[in-house]
Amino acid sequence: MNHFHHTPVLVEAVIRYALPENARLFADCTFGLGGHSKAILEQNPQLETLIAIDRDRQILDHSCSVYDDKRIQRIQARASELPLALRQLHIDGVDGILVDLGVSSYQLEDPERGFSFTRPGPLDMRMDKENPTTAEDIVNNLERNELIKIFREYGEEKFSPRIADAIIRSRQNGRITRTDQLATIIAGAVPAACRRESSIHPATRVFQAIRIAVNQELEELAAFLAVALGCLRPGGHLSVISFHSLEDRLVKNFMQERARGCVCPPRFPVCVCGKKPEIEILTRKPIFAEDNEVADNPRSRSARLRSCRKCAPARADKR
Ligand SMILES: C[S@@+](CC[C@H](N)C(=O)[O-])C[C@H]1O[C@@H](n2cnc3c(N)ncnc32)[C@H](O)[C@@H]1O
Repeated sequence: MNHFHHTPVLVEAVIRYALPENARLFADCTFGLGGHSKAILEQNPQLETLIAIDRDRQILDHSCSVYDDKRIQRIQARASELPLALRQLHIDGVDGILVDLGVSSYQLEDPERGFSFTRPGPLDMRMDKENPTTAEDIVNNLERNELIKIFREYGEEKFSPRIADAIIRSRQNGRITRTDQLATIIAGAVPAACRRESSIHPATRVFQAIRIAVNQELEELAAFLAVALGCLRPGGHLSVISFHSLEDRLVKNFMQERARGCVCPPRFPVCVCGKKPEIEILTRKPIFAEDNEVADNPRSRSARLRSCRKCAPARADKR
């Protein structure tokens, strides 16, 4: 068992936006080591139950020794399985839902989990050990074009073709099984001048891309958003912290679409589409970490929070 620590990001903003006054039930769908939940529970003595969901059994078990409170109900599940978790607990809706996407430092810093290029370990990267696909599978089994697509789309890596070629060349000498082995292959594929000029390790983007692919993080986020509003009571808040522009785009588009009312052409005298706003957006612009937080916790640099409130069911009336 490791003893790594995780510093939660944007805690003040989470406390401000994640739940309405007098909330009783809250779901933290990416509980991790419970940093956000701890802050929420401490600030909200009236909260009766906090449902703590994480897809990683190991972190959920370890979190008991880091932070506990009798109001916490831990459930190993994906965020998109929240409706199922609520049914199991006989709860029909919550007052607030939070997801803080990506991985915890606890996972990142454990070499055995294989998330980090700085720590030699097996190429794993699964948040949930039941997931059948590992990073090793992706690196060794995908074709060149598939690798390039993953590195480009999920990592925005400009040397994707060169890196994919280097991986394929190396595969001819045997499987790539270790994080340090892959990091060396990637570093060797990036031109030396770019390696020197870049402020980040040359393997950063590719490791992120492989992690997103292994855990199907974007598909999972889309599946979560599709069910999230159905799990909220009217007036309840949904908050998402994302770290990647693709994630943030999904959240932004989702919130804009659900906040929109009638979409009939303006020339129609009455509304025939019947579309009503389902939510009110609480954060017109995403909330970023202040400079002092970024200085203390560099991981917060790319974090952004978006939050919305579920509307009461609309009455059927004219536009
Ligand atoms: C950035 S950490 C969350 C940290 C947490 N807010 C804290 O303060 O400790 C992300 C956590 O969410 C989990 N996770 C990521 N995506 C998930 C998903 N779609 N469903 C459930 N858990 C997820 C990861 O296993 C990890 O433990």
